[in-house]
Amino acid sequence: MTSTTSRHWAQTVPGSTALPRVLAGDGRRDLPGHLARHGQLPDVSGSALLDAVEAAGLSGRGGAGFPTARKWRAVASGAGPAVVVGNAAEGEPASSKDHVLLTTNPHLVLDGVQVAARAVGATRVVLYAEPDAETWAVLGEALREREDDRVELIAARHAFIAGEESAVVDAVSGGPGLPRAKPPRVFERGVDGRPTLVQNVETLAHAALVAHYGPGWFRALGTDDEPGTMLLTLHGGRGRTVAEAEIGTPLVDLVDLAGAQAVLIGGYHGTWVPADAARSARLSRASLGAVGATPGAGVVVPLPRGSCGVVETARVLVYLAAQSAGQCGPCLNGLPRIALVAEALAEGRATPRDLADLRRWAGLVQRRGACAHPDGTVRLLTSALEVFEPEVQRHLAGRCSARDHRPILDGRS
Ligand SMILES: Cc1cc2nc3c(=O)[nH]c(=O)nc-3n(C[C@H](O)[C@H](O)[C@H](O)COP(=O)(O)O)c2cc1C
Ligand code: SF4
Repeated sequence: MTSTTSRHWAQTVPGSTALPRVLAGDGRRDLPGHLARHGQLPDVSGSALLDAVEAAGLSGRGGAGFPTARKWRAVASGAGPAVVVGNAAEGEPASSKDHVLLTTNPHLVLDGVQVAARAVGATRVVLYAEPDAETWAVLGEALREREDDRVELIAARHAFIAGEESAVVDAVSGGPGLPRAKPPRVFERGVDGRPTLVQNVETLAHAALVAHYGPGWFRALGTDDEPGTMLLTLHGGRGRTVAEAEIGTPLVDLVDLAGAQAVLIGGYHGTWVPADAARSARLSRASLGAVGATPGAGVVVPLPRGSCGVVETARVLVYLAAQSAGQCGPCLNGLPRIALVAEALAEGRATPRDLADLRRWAGLVQRRGACAHPDGTVRLLTSALEVFEPEVQRHLAGRCSARDHRPILDGRS
């Protein structure tokens, strides 16, 4: 941390360890409410903001957990004036956290966009979100309140892959919003060929708080290696809630695992974890990594004992196969076949040879697409085949042990 940074953020903030941090917690926060809570953004240089975000140890909340400051430095050192895109596409059907954040605390996200733009020297700033009526109304009103006409609102496609960073760049550049081949990575050449920061809106909200209160405040919660809090979409009882939790919180404190057989962690590109393993895991990359999972974008779905993991997984695989952009071999040839056989398995029509094919295809599609959609899809499949192995065998024999056939995971299109 530079001396400028430490001087500026020497003061402590009342209630610094209280939750929630990025969620408004008290309904929708308008500009007067936001200013009453946080005040104006401090007048700090871009390089001091960058140092502060680095010292805070903030990492991306859009799924991959990439160190935020490293990305900001790459964009800041790129050729030409940069572009910042706040990514609120939230294509994941099991996630609602970006929608809740954006519609209840829009000014914190807009502060974050402003902080990122200053840190990377951006001359164009965009918020990219699904154009549902509520989001558009709230964002339009928030921008009017700020009298800010520099932030462009651009509509995201309603599709699982819409939020993949190169798809975001494609859409903002006026294209159809499909993922592009890499390299170049978007931080090198993104929107209109300019260095582009695509950042999840929750990450931007945390960055805004770092700008307001400093890295020491940010690190007061979380673990040394994974500081801060994160937003979660917690499923249970066939409903969902969005919550903010300290990183490192035991999973049993977040969701009811009493009647669960397994837990899907990280969403449709996530991993099934047996309930026993989940009961001793914590919300962190380190702890979840030990059971083969990552927090992803914070989706946690307990699967009750009466439901069937093979059927739930097949429904999601069919959905994911249909969501591909159909541009690359693994998505054109691999995912539809995987979905078809997974569905046959769920319906008790698959053979041991089909199961062997599923496992083989899972290996074949990995790391072969222009984006990580095939990899994420087979991560779900592979964990299901492992965690639900006894149920897979039952399905091969034409049986299913589910007592409750109501869907847990939505195969919405
Ligand atoms: C298929 C696919 C879909 C994605 N969808 C989203 C999304 O809806 N929102 C999001 O923030 N990131 C999404 N990502 C991750 C983005 O590519 C990118 O890593 C992220 O926006 C970067 O922000 P962060 O560093 O703040 O996490 C997706 C990635 C993949 C592979
Ligand atoms: S891997 Fe699939 S989803 Fe990704 S760009 Fe290629 S076809 Fe589209």
